[in-house]
Amino acid sequence: NKKPIILGIESSCDETAAAIITENKQGIPTILSSIVSSQIDVHREFGGVVPELAARSHVEKIDLITKKAIDESGIKMDEIDAVASTAGPGLIVCLSVGLSFGKAMAYSLNKPFIAVNHLEGHALSPKLNCELNYPYLLLLISGGHTQFLNVQGLGKYKRLGTTIDDAVGEAFDKTAKLLGIEFPGGPQIEVYAKKGNPKKYELPKPIFYKGGCNLSFAGLKTAVLKISKQIKTDQEKYDLAASFQKTIEEILYKKSKIAFEEFKKINGTAKNKFVVAGGVAANQKIRGVLINLCKEENFEAIFPPINLCGDNAAMIAMVGLEKFKLNQFNKLNYPAKPRWPL
Ligand code: KG4
Ligand code: ZN
Repeated sequence: NKKPIILGIESSCDETAAAIITENKQGIPTILSSIVSSQIDVHREFGGVVPELAARSHVEKIDLITKKAIDESGIKMDEIDAVASTAGPGLIVCLSVGLSFGKAMAYSLNKPFIAVNHLEGHALSPKLNCELNYPYLLLLISGGHTQFLNVQGLGKYKRLGTTIDDAVGEAFDKTAKLLGIEFPGGPQIEVYAKKGNPKKYELPKPIFYKGGCNLSFAGLKTAVLKISKQIKTDQEKYDLAASFQKTIEEILYKKSKIAFEEFKKINGTAKNKFVVAGGVAANQKIRGVLINLCKEENFEAIFPPINLCGDNAAMIAMVGLEKFKLNQFNKLNYPAKPRWPL
C-alpha cells in the first residue's frame, strides 16, 4: 500500500519554497524535504517587500529550489503523486510564479494539481510530524493575518474573531521600523525587549473589553509612533520594545481566553486543543504566555516547530496531502487569488 508523495510549492510573498511530504506507516504526515529561500537581501534597502522584485526573484529561483527539494527528499520525480501550489492570498505577481510552475509540473508529470489557500497551510502546519485530530481552535498570527478559527475539518473553518485593522506581525514590523531596526524587524523586537523595562510605557489596548475575540492594533502603533519621537537613548528603545511586547502578550492572552469560551460553546465536550501558527508564533514570550493560559484553562497547547511557523512549502504540501486523499483536485486554469479569506 503505497503512501502518497506530494510536492508543495509556495511563492505568495517573499519566500520561495518547495517541499516533498509523505506519510509514515502510522499515517502521520512526514517531511522528506523542505527548502525555503528568503528574499530578505533583495528587499532590505527598501525597508519592505517590493512586489515586482519579489516576483522576479521567485522566477529566478523556483526551478532550482524545487529541484533541490526533490533531490534532498531522495525520491525520483516520477514518484510524485500530486503537485500543490499556493494560489492565494498574497501578492498576485508572486502567486502567479509558483502557481504556474506547479501547474506545469503537474501537467508534465501527468499528475493531479491542487490549488492551496496559504492560510489553510498555516492552519494545518501543526499536523506535520504529529497526530492532530479535528476540531481545534487556531490562532493564526502572521504578517498579514490575525484571526481565531474554529477548525472543524479540512475546508471547514469558522472564524470566531479577527483583527479589525493591522495584523500582529505588521504591528511588530512597524514598531521595529520606528525603533530604527532594519527590515524585517519583527523578530528583533523580542531581542530588544529582553533588555528593557516592560512597565516603562503605558500603551493602549484597543477593544480590550469589547468586541468578543476580535482584535485591534492600529492604536498601539500610533502610540508607539508618538513615544518613539521622544526617545533618545538605547535603553529607552529597549524599554519601548519591552512595553510593546508586553502589551501584545496581554492582548493575546485576554482575547485567546474569550476565544476558548466560544470554542467550548460550539464543540461542547470535545477535547480542547489550541494551535498557534504563523510567523509570530515563533515569539518565545508569546508562546510562554499562551502555554500558561492553556494550563489554566485546561486546553492542550500545540505550536508548530519554529521552522514551520514562518512561510514554507511543507504546510502547502500538507493541505495537498489531505485534499489528495479526498480526491479534491483543481483544473489547470485555476486563478491566482490575491484575496482569499478562509
Ligand atoms: O507567517 P509569516 O512568515 O508570513 C506571513 O504569511 O505573513 O509571518 C511573518 C511575520 C512578520 O511580520 C514577522 O515580523 C513576524 O511574523 N515574526 C515575529 C517573530 N518572528 C517572525 N514577530 C514577533 N516575534 C518573532 N520572534
Ligand atoms: Zn504566511
